[in-house]
Amino acid sequence: MTHPPKPDWDPLAAEVQADPRAAVDALRERCPVAFDRSGTATVLRHADVLRVLHDPATFSSAVSAHPAVPNGYDPPRHTAYRRALDPFFAPQRIRHFGPQCRRLAVRTVQEALTLGDVDVGRELALPFAARVQSAFLGWPELIQDELLDWLQRSHAATRSGDRQQTAAVAREFEAFVERVRDARTGAPPTQDISTELMHVQIDGRPLDLRELSSVLRNWTVGEIGTIAASVGILLHWLATEPDWQQRLRDEPTLLPAAIDEVLRRDGPLPANRRVTTRAVELGGRPLPAGTRLSLNWIAANRDPRALAEPDCLRLDRDPALNLLYGTGIHVCPGAPLARLELRLLMEEVLIRTKSIALPAGHTPTRAAPPDAGYAQLRIRLR
Ligand code: HEM
Repeated sequence: MTHPPKPDWDPLAAEVQADPRAAVDALRERCPVAFDRSGTATVLRHADVLRVLHDPATFSSAVSAHPAVPNGYDPPRHTAYRRALDPFFAPQRIRHFGPQCRRLAVRTVQEALTLGDVDVGRELALPFAARVQSAFLGWPELIQDELLDWLQRSHAATRSGDRQQTAAVAREFEAFVERVRDARTGAPPTQDISTELMHVQIDGRPLDLRELSSVLRNWTVGEIGTIAASVGILLHWLATEPDWQQRLRDEPTLLPAAIDEVLRRDGPLPANRRVTTRAVELGGRPLPAGTRLSLNWIAANRDPRALAEPDCLRLDRDPALNLLYGTGIHVCPGAPLARLELRLLMEEVLIRTKSIALPAGHTPTRAAPPDAGYAQLRIRLR
């Protein structure tokens, strides 16, 4: 077989962009490891994605020339980074952040209630996600607007495919981190998480500016979009399935399982990357060394071979099968924080409203990759 082989699909085709979920469902059945024109192979089946996740020696995360801490590394470097960074998401820290996170959820819902019809992304989900991440890091509120603004420009740069523009936006974030760092130089590590991060030791030295910048980018801009997409998916679900609204108002303890299951069925994060380190066969296809892979979480989490009746919302599924937060050595370290903020926001929405609905005549539009969830979604909270 010549490489790259003839493309199996076009991720930019109009029908894929219009309904990415349906497109990857169909592709998974037709061609479980599918090449596109760029030579990237998309991996769509649950079993194949699991195989990749559990074999980092063959399927490396070193996909980019830019340092990405910890996600762009393989063991042993990756192990050292995770050992140093995972304690920031330890259970007692997340518990400690709970009351502050709850206050931000209350404020967000109260503000939304004054608006009538809410533009979910712009007026609720993005501000909430930015507020929570900034508060978690100990950043002042002022920075949130700057962060949101930067996020929008970063998205535009990525979409444009213009490398110079992307590099310029990345440099801006480094300058921003430099300011965060300078403002904390000499402060005790107990001051806030950002200060503590500056004291983290790796190989007996603190993180350098590029590492610090990469970690903070992962903990902010990397995740604000995913959290915001999750909020949109969850609110759309509540608005369109009133029986569930009632059930959760009656039994709020079901929320954690329901949130994970809704986001399995309708994933907020399209994909992550790997590269093969040797020739290997995957899903019946030979892949030479150096093949770029895109692990499609949305398709894998809707694979009927692993999850019977994938469109059916079931709270009794085996949680280990849900790949929402990944699995293996790169499993999402921020999952406890994400679960906390999504649960508190949904609790507050349900407590503070009698009805969550789509405004009459409004038809939401889906986001296209690299985003997920909704591009346009309006909700009426009463
Ligand atoms: C609903 C929200 C979120 C979802 C669905 C999500 C999903 C994921 C997934 C699937 C991975 C595995 C990627 C891979 O195997 O290549 C991952 C990794 C990661 N996530 Fe999350 N995430 C979320 C929120 C967060 C938050 C809030 C943070 C931090 C504040 C975070 C930080 C990270 C980091 C640093 C990694 C890389 C870990 C590594 O490579 O070892 N995530 N996330």
